[in-house]
Amino acid sequence: MSAPGHPAAGGAARASRRLEPGTKLVIATHNAGKLRENAALLAPWGLEVVGAGALGLPEPAETETSFLGNAGIKAHAAARATGLVALADDSGFSVAALDGAPGVWTADWATRPDGSRDYAHAMAEVERRARDFPDRRAWFSCALVLAWPDGHSEGFLGEAPGHWVWPPRGSRGFGYDPMFVPESETETFAEMDPDRKHAISHRARAFALLAAACLPER
Ligand code: IMP
Repeated sequence: MSAPGHPAAGGAARASRRLEPGTKLVIATHNAGKLRENAALLAPWGLEVVGAGALGLPEPAETETSFLGNAGIKAHAAARATGLVALADDSGFSVAALDGAPGVWTADWATRPDGSRDYAHAMAEVERRARDFPDRRAWFSCALVLAWPDGHSEGFLGEAPGHWVWPPRGSRGFGYDPMFVPESETETFAEMDPDRKHAISHRARAFALLAAACLPER
């Protein structure tokens, strides 16, 4: 996990391998939304993209304590199982006053006993635990890991720094968006134009690092 309030995005590893145009790439997610979003981001690079769900791959347990670690577990498992290069991500919301929590447990804080997600409850829990601390810094993180069948991998971490607000504001976006205002902005991620969010988000930053280092030259 990043240090609380860690301000900048950065590549976690120096790329030593770049994909060739036409490479078949498996997106190691069973989430249809993530598959669609990643496939759209990758579209300009001329890769052949396939989802882990379509290949019937199992979902490995996310047992690491960092975003890069958990993305690595998913990417390596998919690469090993398919013999293809695999891309996996892991993301979450961190609060400085809570030593980076919920962090890698971001989804767990929102998960009800029946498995459904309740983000209003999760955001209220963040506010309840953090309200007495004057430090309001918070950030979203997104780790992307590309893994090759021979065990090689490249990892990239994108972060969107900002602060948390209460009560939640806005109805766009998803997850913890209504309680997060990114640096240099006045609107929450859930209030702003989605194009604006996608231009400055942790996901966009991680993807830009990955593209610069590992996607085919255009
Ligand atoms: P995962 O990457 O599927 O493990 O999801 C991580 C958790 O972080 C989920 O609960 C998401 O709702 C939350 N999360 C990740 N990115 C964002 C975002 O851009 N906005 C709001 N919540 C997010």
